[in-house]
Amino acid sequence: MRILITAGPTREYVDDVRYLSNASSGRMGYAIAEAAVAAGHEVVLVSGPVSLPRPARCEFRSVQSSQEMLDACLEEFPNCDGAIAVAAVCDYRPKERVTGKMSKTGQPLVVEFVETPDVLAELGRRKAHRWCVGFALEAQNARESALRKLRNKSCNAIVLNRTDAIGADVNNVEVINESGETAATWSGPKAEIARRLVDWIAGNAWVKG
Ligand code: CTP
Repeated sequence: MRILITAGPTREYVDDVRYLSNASSGRMGYAIAEAAVAAGHEVVLVSGPVSLPRPARCEFRSVQSSQEMLDACLEEFPNCDGAIAVAAVCDYRPKERVTGKMSKTGQPLVVEFVETPDVLAELGRRKAHRWCVGFALEAQNARESALRKLRNKSCNAIVLNRTDAIGADVNNVEVINESGETAATWSGPKAEIARRLVDWIAGNAWVKG
């Protein structure tokens, strides 16, 4: 299979030097890219800025903003069999990006934010015969929110994890299938979860069909 993977955070610039981002390390997405390559798949990794080495033997596209991530994914997805969206895409960006560097004014600063494109939802909309697996990072009402995302983003499955996964070496996940059932629960190092997830995806009828 040829698999598109999104990973890492995005950066949404306020001016040419300041941005809004989040604490995603990219480790889960990179571990999945490595596991998929090790299992013999081709991988296109679309990554926001992280401080991890590029996984060997995968095609790599470096992006910064959510719009750049969307553009790269829309280019790559038609040539892939499926996508795994692990990126922690910023939900909002400043409405305007100021050219240069803003100076202090002595007054409170008000910045207007607008929603960013939803990369996974766009892939889900265009997937046709392809498959999509999402991640849901939840702090409360976890299962309910994950199910809503599974449906709204047209995923074949969603991997539920908690906010304590951010930046950690280990993770604790529940895989929810299209019918809303728990297909698997795994905990352990992210590399181990990545291997299990790649195996699990490859065993599904929606992949083979
Ligand atoms: N995602 C995406 N593009 C976005 C937001 C999220 O591709 N703009 C993807 C993530 O990569 C993940 C899934 O959608 O696979 C769910 O991400 P999450 O941050 O849990 O949910 P959101 O849709 O952002 O919803 P909310 O922040 O309101 O919980």
